[in-house]
Amino acid sequence: MSMLEGSHQNPKSYWVGNSAKYRIIKALIHDCSGTQVPMRVLDFGAGDGGDWAKVVRDHPQIELTCFEPNPESNKKLSNLLQGTSARVINFEQLRAHEPQHFDRIISFSVFEHVLDRKDYLHTAHRLLAPHGIFYLNYDDGHFRNRLDVGVPRTWKTAVGTYVTNHLSSFKMKHGLSDKAMFYERVAEKDVNQLIEKLGFETKETWYENLEAFKLLAKSIKDSQAKVEFMDFWLEVEKTLNTRFARPLPSPHLGDSSNLWQVAASKTLALVRRK
Ligand SMILES: C[S@@+](CC[C@H](N)C(=O)[O-])C[C@H]1O[C@@H](n2cnc3c(N)ncnc32)[C@H](O)[C@@H]1O
Repeated sequence: MSMLEGSHQNPKSYWVGNSAKYRIIKALIHDCSGTQVPMRVLDFGAGDGGDWAKVVRDHPQIELTCFEPNPESNKKLSNLLQGTSARVINFEQLRAHEPQHFDRIISFSVFEHVLDRKDYLHTAHRLLAPHGIFYLNYDDGHFRNRLDVGVPRTWKTAVGTYVTNHLSSFKMKHGLSDKAMFYERVAEKDVNQLIEKLGFETKETWYENLEAFKLLAKSIKDSQAKVEFMDFWLEVEKTLNTRFARPLPSPHLGDSSNLWQVAASKTLALVRRK
């Protein structure tokens, strides 16, 4: 069944405010519900850990492993997950990990920060079980400039974003920046080439996180209304993706879908081809 069409359990309030994450967690909970069989999940670039502590406490079937290379985030992540069933692994443990182990690999807003993208995808491919799904989600939000000439307070941020974007890969390539600061736009054709080369097949692709909805979500404080709003948001984006996605005559902002212009978060559901 399509991820966008899927009927999923209510995920309570995990990762509200981000429809891309909310949809994937919903799917995960749906896929492991009603069974005692553990679902082995790798969060590949887990950051501070978000809502994982709540998720693994509420859903003991989820056997979560997290990898996070940034020392500061790793510390927060380890603190967050202390006392839960989840484990945090280091680089050596990741490298030495048993292959084809994970039923799901999740990567939220990581790929645009990865320096060696081929190596990252290769590792995910090595660790994904034959029946597994790798949710590769990446963001373009960093690269969108929101300069409003009529509103002077936006000038500083817009100019700062522009300069940082242009300097990020230059600084990294010349050893002037640490890895944690790296980001570079992900172009559709590059990621598709890598995926193909490494032996993945794309089962489904969708675009999410409409800017206006992200803003609205922030303004809703009551938790029940927040969850209702998230479900409404998911429905809207499902309709956009299933009925109104159109190819552009030529790629714009690195992608050929009209939806990418307004929804700066893209997810690919990947499976092993070989
Ligand atoms: C924007 S953060 C997203 C963190 C988390 N996934 C989230 O959604 O909150 C990007 C993360 O990618 C991690 N990262 C960068 N390069 C990586 C790599 N090669 N492998 C795994 N994670 C990486 C960074 O350390 C950072 O925590």
